[in-house]
Amino acid sequence: MSDWMKSDWRNKPRIQMPDYTDAVALQAVEAQLAKYPPLVFAGEARRLKTQLAAASRGEAFLLQGGDCAEAFDQFNADMIRDTFKVMLQMAMVLTFGAKVPVIKVGRMAGQFAKPRSAPTETLDGVELPSYRGDIINDLAFTSDSRIPDPKRMLQAYTQAAATLNLLRAFSTGGYADMNRVHSWTLGFADTAEAEKYREIANRIQDTIDFMAAAGIDANTTHEFSTVDFYTSHESLLLEYEEALTRLDTTSGQWLAGSGHMIWIGDRTRQPDGAHVEFCKGVQNPIGLKCGPSMEVDDLKRLMATLNPENEAGRLTLISRFGAGKVGDHLPRLIKAVQEEGADVVWVCDAMHGNTIKSATGYKTRPFQQVLTEVREFFGVHHAEGTIPGGVHFEMTGSNVTECTGGVHAVSEEDLKDRYHTACDPRLNASQSLELAFLVAEELSALRGKAHNKVAS
Ligand code: PEP
Ligand code: CO
Repeated sequence: MSDWMKSDWRNKPRIQMPDYTDAVALQAVEAQLAKYPPLVFAGEARRLKTQLAAASRGEAFLLQGGDCAEAFDQFNADMIRDTFKVMLQMAMVLTFGAKVPVIKVGRMAGQFAKPRSAPTETLDGVELPSYRGDIINDLAFTSDSRIPDPKRMLQAYTQAAATLNLLRAFSTGGYADMNRVHSWTLGFADTAEAEKYREIANRIQDTIDFMAAAGIDANTTHEFSTVDFYTSHESLLLEYEEALTRLDTTSGQWLAGSGHMIWIGDRTRQPDGAHVEFCKGVQNPIGLKCGPSMEVDDLKRLMATLNPENEAGRLTLISRFGAGKVGDHLPRLIKAVQEEGADVVWVCDAMHGNTIKSATGYKTRPFQQVLTEVREFFGVHHAEGTIPGGVHFEMTGSNVTECTGGVHAVSEEDLKDRYHTACDPRLNASQSLELAFLVAEELSALRGKAHNKVAS
């Protein structure tokens, strides 16, 4: 790997990347970004890798979540705070269910570039290039807006840096204090499900009260007032990724300085393609999206390319098949991993296989489908005797109406009220927390089953 160069991807076939028209402007931006400080440091990425290695053994659990696409015009402190807060709440609920540490990784501070299903979109007879995320072009439906502009990379960098700065402050500056986190956002309604959540919430509260009474409280215990919070995004816009890649002098290895963890999307995972070429050379933990079209042979090649030393925590396989399809695909991929003796973290993205168009015309995801995929994921792993290592959601701390269902049942009619996403529909704060309660249930059932196995 030592002869790998961060620009090698340029010799490989690339897809889902913009054709910048102004080469001079592009090079100027790349040169500028290359001089800027990296956003994350190698020691942090290595620490995350160690924690993911624990998740691969069932000794930790990954919660990865955030926007589908971060947007320039929705960038503000409240949004970051609210998403951070709901993720901590979810993590607390999951910790309670799993009884293992929950690794918190935001789809934040760099999640700007989007792969699209078609290169153009047509509205009222007008055809324009597709929107590809704010780091590339603008959502407004005009031909000027859709021209890829390299200068947008500088704005994305600035937004990512400011986001990470706030996240770091929240993580260590007292905001993550357990006693603050548990003021639940859910606003439990009077339903049977809500009653169940209230019970778990009360048990968590009792535990916190007990610890406080025993003298272990947030003011005296560092672990209760600070958290590790990591960032991640799809490594799609390789000019941006390359420009922020740095040599880590401690290890002599390359680091993608754009975020702690980066992943390869389901559309750009060609074993000979540019995206795999870039990701194979950096030491960050790498995610690999696995949709229904993932072939066993490709997965084997990708594992060999991306993790030739079979390093634990290096590779996370993020399955995203869709509710009803997990049983068709996950077992064959699990078998491939076992045949290779590969060490991976299995994570369930319960969003991207469950996108539908509502009768009211909005792209949405039914809460029940998301939940069903998570349950199928747990079911298959239980049947195969393998370890479900985490979950991956598109979610926000804001009270949006983008996914249908949940205890505060969002209907197809409601979607128009607060539909703010620039790309895919996200779970709102209450739906996210509700899902965490349901995943926690799955996790504690799994622990119960494991116990029984040992006992019998
Ligand atoms: C995403 O995670 O935003 C995404 C586009 O997912 P996938 O590559 O799995 O379709
Ligand atoms: Co998405």
